[in-house]
Amino acid sequence: MKRNVIVGQSGGPTAAINSSLAGVYLTAKECGAKTVYGMLNGIQGLLEGRYIDLSEHIKNGLDAELLKRTPSSFLGSCRYKLPAAEGNEAVYEQIFATLKELDIEVFIYIGGNDSMDTINKLSQYAQAKGSEIRFIGCPKTVDNDLALTDHTPGYGSAAKYIAISMKELIRDSFTIDFKQGMCTIVEIMGRNAGWLTAAAALSKDEDCQGPDLIYLPEIPFDIESFKAKVKDLLAKKISVVVAVSEGIHTADGTYVCELGNSVDFVDAFGHKQLSGTASYLAGYIAGEFGCKTRAIEFSTLQRAGSHVASLTDISEGFEAGKAAIKAADEGKTGLMVVFERTSQDPYKCGTALRDVNKIANDERVVPREWVNADGDFVTDEFIAYAKPLIQGELAPVMVDGLPRHLAVPDGLRERA
Ligand code: F6P
Repeated sequence: MKRNVIVGQSGGPTAAINSSLAGVYLTAKECGAKTVYGMLNGIQGLLEGRYIDLSEHIKNGLDAELLKRTPSSFLGSCRYKLPAAEGNEAVYEQIFATLKELDIEVFIYIGGNDSMDTINKLSQYAQAKGSEIRFIGCPKTVDNDLALTDHTPGYGSAAKYIAISMKELIRDSFTIDFKQGMCTIVEIMGRNAGWLTAAAALSKDEDCQGPDLIYLPEIPFDIESFKAKVKDLLAKKISVVVAVSEGIHTADGTYVCELGNSVDFVDAFGHKQLSGTASYLAGYIAGEFGCKTRAIEFSTLQRAGSHVASLTDISEGFEAGKAAIKAADEGKTGLMVVFERTSQDPYKCGTALRDVNKIANDERVVPREWVNADGDFVTDEFIAYAKPLIQGELAPVMVDGLPRHLAVPDGLRERA
């Protein structure tokens, strides 16, 4: 590598996305890149001419270690849908003019399915125009829904946060014996893929009975059957705990959160903001059975919880960034780094590369055979798959009682 690299982060943040950024930066420097630029707020920021020189922010080994432990997207993120090149030449000309001005040789985008759409479009445009810039996708998403990869950096840490928090709140829920019982509904992210919600089952162990019911978005939600199951459980136990995906929906496709007073925000990719499922169901159960209920939305806490990050996840996030740069250094383009599991026990996993065109805009959901016949819990196969991903801890660097993060660059706090 002789010239410069530019890297961006896109989509929802995770606890591992900055570890990938550290992997990109350090490996690019090792490979001889002169300057490693970071786009502020992804491709949207690049279009506005907003970028930084990462060496001004990652000055030494300690900064790199702090970056690996810093949740959210250090460079800021975006949910910007790059239009098709046809009919939108000006947008592409502007991007490529900026890349030329910065003498860019390699463009890395760390993101999920929508971000891989950006890599796909840019690499195809570059090839059509004879540009030599290489475009490589680096996977990230707590949703774990990217195609052609065993799993995605970000998932393991969010799954670990969910399993730990489930365990703690199940413990808390068995304290007071309310006359009509108590029902706790926990809402978990993941939109159309139930990987994160399924991780609630990881809390089940010899010292914790785990949630009673788990509902994934892959299976249509039947409110009458749910009511009957909760009724049976309340007759037997003082506390019932249910994990639900934010994306559960009835057979006609209506999101359960839309049955309540949900917010109607829709992003550039047409994704509705899903929130309010637990609150709706808790109100429904309270109304039906007169019992005490609690609605708990893990919300952004589950993807920002780097104080309980999985070491496996943070290490693999770093490896993904490293593999992205290595691929570009070997002259490859239009690819995304994937993970391939070569052994389950002991867990062994390595990186490979796949055509980003086959990954962009696709969604990998939980296989039906990893959910029980009743559609209200996951199987042991899922547990065996997910358990290795939450292993190990990366201790935060604690200063004055709080985890120290690498501070975000100027230009991310104010409006562009
Ligand atoms: O794409 C990751 C994700 O965390 C989804 O699970 C969730 O639906 C969405 O982002 C929420 O995004 P935002 O915080 O922008 O509303």
